[in-house]
Amino acid sequence: MSALSAPARRLVRRFGTGELVLHWGYAVLFAVLLLTGLGLYLPPGQNPVLARRELVREIHLDAAIGLLLLPVLVAGAWPRSVAGFWHDVERFDADDAGWLRRVVVPRRLRRRPLPSQDRFNAGQKLNSIVVAAATVGFIVTGCLMWQGEHLPTSLSEAADSWHIWLMLAMLPLIAGHLVLSLLLPSTRPAMRGIITGRVRLDFARRRHAKWTARMAERGEPAD
Ligand code: HEM
Repeated sequence: MSALSAPARRLVRRFGTGELVLHWGYAVLFAVLLLTGLGLYLPPGQNPVLARRELVREIHLDAAIGLLLLPVLVAGAWPRSVAGFWHDVERFDADDAGWLRRVVVPRRLRRRPLPSQDRFNAGQKLNSIVVAAATVGFIVTGCLMWQGEHLPTSLSEAADSWHIWLMLAMLPLIAGHLVLSLLLPSTRPAMRGIITGRVRLDFARRRHAKWTARMAERGEPAD
């Protein structure tokens, strides 16, 4: 049964296994990096991990190496996953621009509905790009901090403060991501997708009409 003719309660595949492994691997490593990073950052007086600073630092570095290896391993095991995800994230069109302009207007004040969106809406595309850019930033500044004693003090100090600014900038982004995923009724059905890989077709049609229309054109199946 194609995505066009399938009843609304049917499920469609939203994420492949590689994408799920990438997401949850990233989420776990990010949580470890955040907690150990906070432990290393807090001043000694109020710092519960001070006695085990070396261990915490080692865990932080191992998780950072894991973050670096994760996309490579996922791309090796599921060749089309990372490239496919990025392909769907990096394309912005006029509908994406319109969506971003109008999504900030409260729903009851909008004169027209939001432009229909592809597999990822413009906000999700931006979220993915910011997460990817921040990851590169964390890795570059982290390497500079790691090699700090061999570098000019001004460079290692700048890396140190950029590393912390990046962490602080990521906190509201992650908090927003969790509110949308876990709390907001209109977006909560996406949780099923990031756990099982599938979402209900009516949810997909409502929020990603361009994507479901394309699936229907290609005759892609709904369960
Ligand atoms: C318990 C923690 C988390 C939960 C419950 C969660 C939930 C979700 C859900 C439901 C989606 C799918 C949205 C869709 O249908 O497109 C998603 C996608 C995504 N998540 Fe997470 N996530 C978590 C942690 C993280 C972390 C720590 C990061 C990165 C720092 C992250 C980055 C992303 C990205 C880049 C996407 C794809 C684009 C988007 O939907 O915004 N997630 N997540």
